[in-house]
Amino acid sequence: MSDDKIAAETAAEKRFSMNIDPRTQTLAQLGDTTPEKVAARFAELRQSFDQEAATHSADPESWRSFVVAWTGRKSGALTQIGDNWLKPAPADLKRAVGQELNKLKAHVAAVLEEKRKEIESAAERAAAAREQIDLSLPGVERAIGTRHLIRQTYEELQRIFLSIGFSVVEGPEIETPYYNFEALNIPEHHPARDNMDTFYIEGARGGLLLRTHTSPMQIRTMEKQPPPVRIIVPGKVYRRDNPDATHGYMFHQIEGLAVDADITFCDFKGTVEYFVREFLGPKAKTRLRPSYFPFTEPSAEVDASCHVCGGSGCRICKFSGWIELFGAGMVDPAVYGFVKYDAERLSGFAFGMGVDRLAMMKYGVSEMPLLYQNDVRFLRQFP
Ligand code: PHE
Repeated sequence: MSDDKIAAETAAEKRFSMNIDPRTQTLAQLGDTTPEKVAARFAELRQSFDQEAATHSADPESWRSFVVAWTGRKSGALTQIGDNWLKPAPADLKRAVGQELNKLKAHVAAVLEEKRKEIESAAERAAAAREQIDLSLPGVERAIGTRHLIRQTYEELQRIFLSIGFSVVEGPEIETPYYNFEALNIPEHHPARDNMDTFYIEGARGGLLLRTHTSPMQIRTMEKQPPPVRIIVPGKVYRRDNPDATHGYMFHQIEGLAVDADITFCDFKGTVEYFVREFLGPKAKTRLRPSYFPFTEPSAEVDASCHVCGGSGCRICKFSGWIELFGAGMVDPAVYGFVKYDAERLSGFAFGMGVDRLAMMKYGVSEMPLLYQNDVRFLRQFP
């Protein structure tokens, strides 16, 4: 066999072998010598493009390499065909090859463009689905908090007294011994100071202390304004108590003072009874028990019939039927001397309530520390 013949046969084998890519051959090598054969060759190519497009379209990564394989500038199929089929084509076939190549390019461009749009809109749909706002989901609820039980009780007490003509004043928590004791008729060595021993502020000239009660505001108010006086004084007070279930070094009081030309014990009792009914309900009864305070005469402890058992006796009232509410009394005339009020002409009454105590009693709180621990499980019970 001549060398030429061998070469021709080898070329023919290559043509039909699966391994030889026709795009790397010239049309002459492929034996495509007529416009019909060229058209058939392009049809075949277009068919394999369509098939590949279908198999690569599922996955974006393989789609990208498919696009490069066909349209890549350097070694993409379209470039190869331009180089191998069109450029070396004989003059009489060139026109036909050129037309077929242009048709193929247009087809490839159209298919790729269509697929690009599809991929883009699928990505957009996926993103939209991911980012979709689900209006049926419950919203994030932010707790706005509630007023503390002490604050709620203050507001309740103030509501009651404001409704009968009292107004609210406030005063300093750091006091002088004069306002906290002397002017309230508690002289230096009076035993009444004992249970009110308090926190003194070291090095303060003339002595300063944390007030042991809100009563100093009785003095400060009467010093400042002529009668009549009808005030309540909410505020913190401090005592050197050992903390336990019902005591702390600080608690809350609300003071009351009414002074005028013709205030009698009757007014005092009526006011106290009105308060007890407002605070504990219309069925609550009031009892005054003799007591002692240096700045009131006579003095009384105000008790209410037990709001739990109604007076028949239970664990809460220690089977007495009564619950102690607060201390009170008619203003001792000696106090008027300190504020230059006319003790002959004026009279009045005063009271001092422990707000923490009243809150615990009314709402059944057994341990005073619960009021200050800020445990939301406790606070939530008083919305
Ligand atoms: N200040 C007294 C106390 O804290 C209470 C009180 C006030 C008593 C006013 C009588 C009149 O114990």
